[in-house]
Amino acid sequence: MDTPTHDPIAASGRARGFLSGAREIDDARVDIRGTLPSWLRGTHLLNGPALWELPGGRHEHWFDGYAMWHALRIADDGVRYRSRFALSDAYRRSSAAGMPVFGEFGSPNPAGLLTRLRSPQVTDNPAVVMSRHGDRWLSVTETPFLTYFDPDTLETQERLDLGHGDEVMHLMSAHGFTLADGSYLNLATALGRRCEMKLFRLRPGSARPEVLGRIAMPRSGYTHGFGLAPGHALIWETALRAQPLAFRFGSRSYAGNFRWEPRDGSAIHAVALDTGGVRTWRIPPIMAFHCTQAWGDGNDLVLELAVYDDAAVFDDLRLDRRRAGAPLKSLPRHVRYRLRADHRDADPEAIAGPAIELQQVHPWRVGRRRAQVCWGGGNGEHGEFSDRTHRIDLDGGGVSSWQRPQAIQLEPLFVPRPGGEGDDDGVLLVPTLADADDATVIGVLDARSMECLAELRTPQIVPFGFHAAFRFH
Ligand SMILES: [Fe+2]
Repeated sequence: MDTPTHDPIAASGRARGFLSGAREIDDARVDIRGTLPSWLRGTHLLNGPALWELPGGRHEHWFDGYAMWHALRIADDGVRYRSRFALSDAYRRSSAAGMPVFGEFGSPNPAGLLTRLRSPQVTDNPAVVMSRHGDRWLSVTETPFLTYFDPDTLETQERLDLGHGDEVMHLMSAHGFTLADGSYLNLATALGRRCEMKLFRLRPGSARPEVLGRIAMPRSGYTHGFGLAPGHALIWETALRAQPLAFRFGSRSYAGNFRWEPRDGSAIHAVALDTGGVRTWRIPPIMAFHCTQAWGDGNDLVLELAVYDDAAVFDDLRLDRRRAGAPLKSLPRHVRYRLRADHRDADPEAIAGPAIELQQVHPWRVGRRRAQVCWGGGNGEHGEFSDRTHRIDLDGGGVSSWQRPQAIQLEPLFVPRPGGEGDDDGVLLVPTLADADDATVIGVLDARSMECLAELRTPQIVPFGFHAAFRFH
């Protein structure tokens, strides 16, 4: 498919990462400066929005652009780059129409009232998270469509629509988990007079979700992810509440169908993976995208989150503000919630160190045991957007950081060294774009020392995305 044309829109320096214009590239050489670890062999997969403008209309929010996948194949003889648009319904139909056909996260639904009344118009644009399901790969946004793709060729494969099966599902968390047997675990929401959140499992090769647990509530909270502790899923209910009728019939954007309702506070639910039993703890009202990790500590469960005290972060991440380099108005706090068996309220505790986002721990610890180290993107002292990478010692509070001058640097993807022991034995892969860069530079850092071992210079500006993945060969 030809890449649609778009209107030129101004952004300079590092903000060029918020522009459309990335091309589908078949097989290009990636320059390596420095030395890659000899064990780092595999494919670094990146995903994110890449096209916000069509001839007849444009999107308004960073999260809205049509998804492009990027693959850096790291082999003994060098690194090669490939990119492809995800051939979602949203991309294909909007490209053919020359204008957006679906509403997206921060852009209104352009469908007319009669069309909306006939059937909900829901985007499947898989620009947010890539996950493994069995030996296959899928990509999702926050709706119950799973778009499978080939991680070598980046060709789009079939799309699984979980919204039209036996279980009603209208929304879905972007972040699922791959269990040890290859099952895909995720969380869907059925909207209605009462909402129901459904923790479900897709076994390898299966297209039929098995519901492991259900949580009923008057109005579900905006849900981007959840935590996985041994034996439990930990689900935080934000105070950004879904408005079911608006989702069903309205013309607002996805985010516009939620309303900040702090009066009733927020909650954390623990769903037992074996019995489906649910326990709930109250917390003050929060908004949160990402958990750092979850674990069990004796009879307690513990959840670490990057939390916001309101929903202003959505406005911060609008394209006009990001392309203009506007300072952030809303900054997260890093909070540890302890869920005691005999308490109704969770005990929050500030985690020492700076605020982080797009944070993570060693992936082989997730759902197994607590990790002592995490990494994430940090913001500047004056609200500069994601311009540094932090390593935080979760026991001692020690912080070390890596920063390219005048750059935006996003999610630090931790890749563990096979056979390694420590929670930080591996590298971080950090996509960056500095004011003076011609194209995206991926920093390869020693995850313990935060020393930059190598830089991978990709053949184009990879538009800023959210989450990456690494596939060992
Ligand atoms: Fe995310």
